[in-house]
Amino acid sequence: MKILSIETSCDDTGISILEAQKKGKTISFKVLASVIQSQIQIHSPYGGVFPALAKREHQKNLPILLKQAFKKAKLEPDQLSDLATKWVIAVTSGPGLEPALWTGIVFAKELAQKYKIPVIPVNHMEGHIFSVFPKNKKEFEIPQIKFPALTLLVSGGHTELVLIKKWHDYQIIGQTLDDASGEAFDKVARMLELPYPGGPEVSRLASNLRIAPLLNKEGVGGGNSENHHLALHQAQGTPPHKGGDKIQISLPRPMLYTKNFNFSFSGLKTAVLYLIRDLKKENPNILQSQKIKEAICLEFENAVVETLVYKTQKAIEQYNIKTLIVAGGVSANQHLQQEITNLGKKFKQKRKKLNIYFPNKKLTGDNALMIGIAGYLKYLKN
Ligand code: KG4
Ligand code: ZN
Repeated sequence: MKILSIETSCDDTGISILEAQKKGKTISFKVLASVIQSQIQIHSPYGGVFPALAKREHQKNLPILLKQAFKKAKLEPDQLSDLATKWVIAVTSGPGLEPALWTGIVFAKELAQKYKIPVIPVNHMEGHIFSVFPKNKKEFEIPQIKFPALTLLVSGGHTELVLIKKWHDYQIIGQTLDDASGEAFDKVARMLELPYPGGPEVSRLASNLRIAPLLNKEGVGGGNSENHHLALHQAQGTPPHKGGDKIQISLPRPMLYTKNFNFSFSGLKTAVLYLIRDLKKENPNILQSQKIKEAICLEFENAVVETLVYKTQKAIEQYNIKTLIVAGGVSANQHLQQEITNLGKKFKQKRKKLNIYFPNKKLTGDNALMIGIAGYLKYLKN
């Protein structure tokens, strides 16, 4: 069976063609084509995604990408009606930006009507889960994972911990009460006058300092992540202060010790806003200092990652989790990956095996491949 999949939930237009095979319990996918058109440059001047523009761009891109995908797959679009090879169309139906989502849904429905093939609506976040199973560059295979599994889904619109008792049996056990983690990264980037999308930029600046010696030439503290972690673990967002010749920056770890698995990133974001305001009182040009920006990024990234990993660990312990899947745009964050990997090692030391899956770098962001895979599994189920 072939799957044509379409993703237009945010600022990436994606189309892919997969060939699915089910042999016994093994479900695998051959990637016949996967094309993606990013709109980063178009939205960049606005510092975020402009929904009306995203809609216009998706409408423009979809027919072009469809042609490209069929060409890459060495197929003709008319083969959609070829009854010998069964087709289904999988399309992201939400969550996402409504005007953007509708372009993909309308496009999918038109194709479905024209060629009389079924359309499967796919949840975007469920899609992200299936981005973690590539077998190699051209194939995906759903492994026989051990349940219960847990997924930490971190993107621009969501931050969720989802318990998976078996495929299609999802229970959200924790989520953000306000901003998503990726959204917080993007907003902090804007405060620091960094380009959009902010997540990768904040992370890049943080990693400059993460590998730098503890005290750098400008006298900004925070180079050693371990010391930083320990010193700031219980910090409640104290204002920046000078200790000796270095500026200590500490940001809160919101909801770290609450008994549930929820998150909150809006207070952390506001703490960064106040921090910058206070620093500017002393020096209005403070943001011209790369080192200050790096120090803020490092402490902010530490605060987000620490919160995510701590709650994930608690959920793993409470639900006796065997498999952890981390996915969504923020899963590209190297510090998060490192800390999750360390968590796996910690469990191993306690003789508890935890299998961990991340998407590879190309699949952390939005793409149509993951939608095709999730769509096919949904098709099999129904
Ligand atoms: O999943 P995604 O591509 O789109 C949504 O479904 O939202 O996630 C995009 C989010 C953005 O907020 C972006 O800043 C963030 O993922 N992101 C990162 C990194 N790369 C992308 N956040 C932190 N560190 C990164 N390296
Ligand atoms: Zn996404």
